Amino acid sequence: MSETFKGNFTQQEPIPEEAIEAAVEIMRSGRLHRYNTGAGEAGEVALLEEEFAAWSGAKYCLAVASGGYALATALRAVGVTPGDKVLTNAFTLAPVPGAIASLGAVPVFVGVTDGLVIDLDDLAAKADQADVLMLSHMRGHIADMDALMTICDARGVTVIEDCAHTMGARWNGVLSGRHGAIGCYSTQTYKHMNSGEGGLLITDDEEVAARAIVLSGSYMLYERHRAAPGPEVFERVKYDTPNVSGRMDNLRAAILRPQLRDLDRQCARWNARYRVVEAGLRDTPGLTIVERPAKEAYVMSSFQFLLLDWSDTAITEVVSRCAGRGVELKWFGAPEPVGFTSRYDSWRYVPSGPMPESDRVLKGILDLRLPLTFSEDDCAQIARIIRAEVSSVYQAA
Ligand SMILES: Cc1ncc(COP(=O)(O)O)c(C=O)c1O
Repeated sequence: MSETFKGNFTQQEPIPEEAIEAAVEIMRSGRLHRYNTGAGEAGEVALLEEEFAAWSGAKYCLAVASGGYALATALRAVGVTPGDKVLTNAFTLAPVPGAIASLGAVPVFVGVTDGLVIDLDDLAAKADQADVLMLSHMRGHIADMDALMTICDARGVTVIEDCAHTMGARWNGVLSGRHGAIGCYSTQTYKHMNSGEGGLLITDDEEVAARAIVLSGSYMLYERHRAAPGPEVFERVKYDTPNVSGRMDNLRAAILRPQLRDLDRQCARWNARYRVVEAGLRDTPGLTIVERPAKEAYVMSSFQFLLLDWSDTAITEVVSRCAGRGVELKWFGAPEPVGFTSRYDSWRYVPSGPMPESDRVLKGILDLRLPLTFSEDDCAQIARIIRAEVSSVYQAA
């Protein structure tokens, strides 16, 4: 009898007790709105911002309603306007080009390498087309940030980092989100911290921070922020920055603060699971492991591998056989966008030319979640199942 995996790929761990207690306290107080604070009282959102700024080393932090909202706010705060082109990854998820399109701006897709990071040659070739790069560290894979920043700095391209999958990851010792002008994070349920929905934005630029705070809907109460620039900076921007409400509330912030304190330990647990799957899949014939550069310190909550140059039929067969044994694989190359997978040519509102090298990579990407409710033994079993099914389809072909 072949083994079947019984776990649930979308089941995250419960919210920690300390966070539940903090949330209940906020609900008992009735003061859920971030600015519903008494004189001299900080409020959970302001404290979260202060703590996240300290954790990241950034001068300023703003908590908002979602990661996608943080991305769109970052674009507005650096001055992107309708019709502007914005460089971004061909391999990312729908909220990234969606944030660009929400401003009436136009994504310009940059290719993906078989290391699953942005193709720096393609970036250099396209860098003159836009003033801003919205860089997605998609699925936790970080490009050579030193080389990327050299390209962007030389062309005057402002970098906004989408760190939805890299909260706590580093390139060459520097935290993701701290290489570019702005770092954006998501705290939606499937990310490294879970508040259902939520986002965070960090920056060292005082005008960007002030604009982002006014944009998020500060109702001129910006002096209640603790990870914000002084009032004189708001004086410079407040009359010509619109209010596009997308604040975080005290309930979500209360849930997130204890999780931030535990983030490093949780990331280590995620990485242990990742390494078990990686070891279990290594040297499987026909399967390509995504090798991680020595300068990259990742925080992986999912796993990707490649079935490069496989036929659609063979990949479909692997996906369906694994599903039959309880292992949910998501295939980025599927002709129709399914669930959370997407590829640049399924966003038809964006003009895009052919990208054959990226197409080859995208067509071969298989993706699976590794929630912390899976034990390392579970991860070893998942790897055994994938290995067996990939091997048998490969041999049959
Ligand atoms: C790569 C990436 N960027 C941005 C986001 C946006 O985050 P949110 O769902 O909080 O809007 C997501 C969410 O799945 C994502 O996967």
